[in-house]
Amino acid sequence: MRAHRIDRPADLDVVRESYDRVADNYAHMVATTGIGDIRSHPWLKASIDAFADTVSDLGPVLDVGCGPGTVTAYLAERGLDASGVDLSPRMIENARRLHPQCRFSVASATDLHLGEASLGGVLGWWSLFNLPRDVLPQVLASFARALKPGGHFITATHVGDEDAVRTEAYGGVSVRWTTHQWRPEQLVDLIEQAGLRPVAELRLPADEHSGPGMVVMAKRLD
Ligand SMILES: C[S@@+](CC[C@H](N)C(=O)[O-])C[C@H]1O[C@@H](n2cnc3c(N)ncnc32)[C@H](O)[C@@H]1O
Repeated sequence: MRAHRIDRPADLDVVRESYDRVADNYAHMVATTGIGDIRSHPWLKASIDAFADTVSDLGPVLDVGCGPGTVTAYLAERGLDASGVDLSPRMIENARRLHPQCRFSVASATDLHLGEASLGGVLGWWSLFNLPRDVLPQVLASFARALKPGGHFITATHVGDEDAVRTEAYGGVSVRWTTHQWRPEQLVDLIEQAGLRPVAELRLPADEHSGPGMVVMAKRLD
């Protein structure tokens, strides 16, 4: 048994099947509309650029919940040793088709075999909000252990108080997942409790595509 076992979310299989069902529409949406592509959103792009500048010399970077690999490929184009992992096999099929030059694998954020102090950077880019409230702290602690001293974590997620059950997504496809929204101060506390020091926070007001969100970047100190 691994030393730091993470609880398996009860709804993991349902969440995986849901993302498998929307994967093709999601990849098509990103490619054709720019929604979900950081290059269409200057503040999200600036956040990823700052992260990339910070970790570029620190070693491998893992994009957890990479979906169709848009950010993974962006980081790889910038010269980072970036790879992606996602719960949904169909998301990863799309990622491999769209970005054959990059490395992708299928796994849950709750079941990654990460070496201690092995990564320069970890991303949870709009991909950790499905984790149950009691599981996210365990995942964040695993990211903190996996980072080298000076390594950075960046996350983007939905802000609020709700556990919003989603039954339809990306073109009317039937899904079943819960979006666990976080209040900014709650999320920052969790990140600190995991052993990381927040270095930047960005608040994103609701817009025509999404509710309010936030980006947090944090650093492993030692
Ligand atoms: C909204 S998409 C974002 C994808 C990508 N990060 C992007 O910005 O385009 C959410 C992604 O999180 C993935 N995901 C959800 N739960 C996960 C888990 N437990 N482990 C790994 N990936 C997960 C989904 O399969 C999906 O690809």
